[in-house]
Amino acid sequence: VAVRAEAAAGGGINPAIRKEEDKVVDTVLTGELAKPLTAYCRCWRSGTFPLCDGAHAKHNKATGDNVGPLLVKK
Ligand code: FES
Repeated sequence: VAVRAEAAAGGGINPAIRKEEDKVVDTVLTGELAKPLTAYCRCWRSGTFPLCDGAHAKHNKATGDNVGPLLVKK
């Protein structure tokens, strides 16, 4: 965990999501059960990761960044 904390301090992009995992991987099944539109987080600040909860807006305002979600349409 200390190594991961150092990596984050040295420029990592994930500030807090599932840091106990070696690699954060999510699998999305597509097909008839898929929602018409789903927004997936790319800023690593969402409280509902891997789904976007709008937290990117606060991050962008605070940092001048321009990140936004990945939209998946059925
Ligand atoms: Fe991360 Fe929207 S909350 S992209």
